[in-house]
Amino acid sequence: VEEVSEDNESCSNDSKEPLSPLPSSSSDDKSSSSEESSLPSTTTTLPEPFYPATLQAFEANGAPEACLQPRVLPDTFEAPAIPRDQVSSAIDAQDKGTPDQWVPRDPRMVRLTGKHPFNAEAKLNDLYSQGFFTSTNLFFVRNHGAVPKVDAQMARDWKVEISGNFVRLCDNPVTFTIDDFRKSFEVVTVPITLVCAGNRRKEQNVVQKSLGFSWGAAGISTALFTGVRLADVLDFIRPKRGAKHVVFEGGDSLPNGPYGTSQLASWARNPRHGMILAWGMNGLPLEPDHGFPIRLVVPGQIGGRSVKWLKKIELSAIESQHHLHFHDNKVLPMPVGPDQARAEKSWWYDPRYIIRDLNVNSAVACPDHDEILKGNVEDMYTLRGYAYGGGGRRITRVEISLDEGTTWELAEIQYPEDQFREFAFDDAIYGKVDLTDNDQCFCWSFWSFQVTVERLGESPAIVVRAMDESLALQPRDMYWNATGMMNNWWFRVCIHHLD
Ligand code: MTE
Repeated sequence: VEEVSEDNESCSNDSKEPLSPLPSSSSDDKSSSSEESSLPSTTTTLPEPFYPATLQAFEANGAPEACLQPRVLPDTFEAPAIPRDQVSSAIDAQDKGTPDQWVPRDPRMVRLTGKHPFNAEAKLNDLYSQGFFTSTNLFFVRNHGAVPKVDAQMARDWKVEISGNFVRLCDNPVTFTIDDFRKSFEVVTVPITLVCAGNRRKEQNVVQKSLGFSWGAAGISTALFTGVRLADVLDFIRPKRGAKHVVFEGGDSLPNGPYGTSQLASWARNPRHGMILAWGMNGLPLEPDHGFPIRLVVPGQIGGRSVKWLKKIELSAIESQHHLHFHDNKVLPMPVGPDQARAEKSWWYDPRYIIRDLNVNSAVACPDHDEILKGNVEDMYTLRGYAYGGGGRRITRVEISLDEGTTWELAEIQYPEDQFREFAFDDAIYGKVDLTDNDQCFCWSFWSFQVTVERLGESPAIVVRAMDESLALQPRDMYWNATGMMNNWWFRVCIHHLD
């Protein structure tokens, strides 16, 4: 759970290879060995114009507009900065006096749990107006504790330990640096939407306070992630029979031990599930808040499975025993209230209540909260929003009701992810970019619906619901639950009529 005890206290270079998995030393780093000096060097000045050189590969290969938006550039690898034209200081004053006071953050992010740990979403309008990709500085953040402070040298030395039941590498455990991963396996870049299981929880908390804090509908973001396929790594080490789970552990220290969770080995080994060990995000190294130097990224599943600051992978007969694997990311039965869930620990250990795939969901971004619709009655207004399915399932329809669900009309849907299926290339920074044979939907889609101001003026509310290709439809009623997770009832924007 987004546990009350832990939460309520309260993101250049113009070098040609900025996405080398290992950030190279800045010019004043005197510790470079000769081996390290073969790594590409970076500069600490922002390029002119303010446009990532890394995106040139996409441009040259005919990538869609969605890939080519300007994005955040790091100032140095230790402290990636947010664009100078957007904020005066990369360090948000609110972080002073917290363990995260070195982490660059965009003050436009809305903090949901006080100062620390950092749990934040952009304003829905800011997020939506970014388009398909979210700038790294506006990408939602969910941290259970302090961000591990990792400098360039530590990142080069960072080891992911792999242990447990496998055949290929017998000296148990074995370790991989990020460079080992990069040299041993195919490097790939894929667009992935991450969504926190608590997205839209605020609506649940209004009905009855759950154990978690109030996410709006912006606990969702999309980025290009670069790394190696987990399935390739697991294939290489050849898990033995009986290694039914793959356990992942992060490098953050939390009151009840490190953050960790697991995947069914059959899913983790299947490339269709698309899991990657990623060091790149939007063409640049991960930012501290998003798991620098390396994280697991699990598309189509709740964000909680994408372990940041990845330190350990274990092939195991049993699922993760980490505290938060049990006490987080569960949808308990509705009759189990927060008090009962706190008192009777057994609820958390029932494997039936674990959440893996995201459920179908959608939200309205335009009109925005408190937006005043002006204009003549015959003017057209375009309602807009997003929709996503889980487990790679495509959104097959989005429906709008202007009469509280009595009648429904079809909205237009755009799938920017599909534009990725039309081009492929290999690149020194991004590795293989090729979704041409991929039929999974791991990203959000956008819907729009045109309506006259007159109709909106006569409507009590704008209601939206989506369906995915398994015919799962967002429900009319909220499934309230103690953790306040997976809230996906019809999204409703009330219209107030001004005289
Ligand atoms: N990994 C570690 N090590 N520690 C964490 O607190 N939070 C998880 C997941 N991975 C977490 C973690 C949760 S609950 C979510 S929703 C995602 O990271 C959020 O990823 P983001 O902060 O990059 O958006």
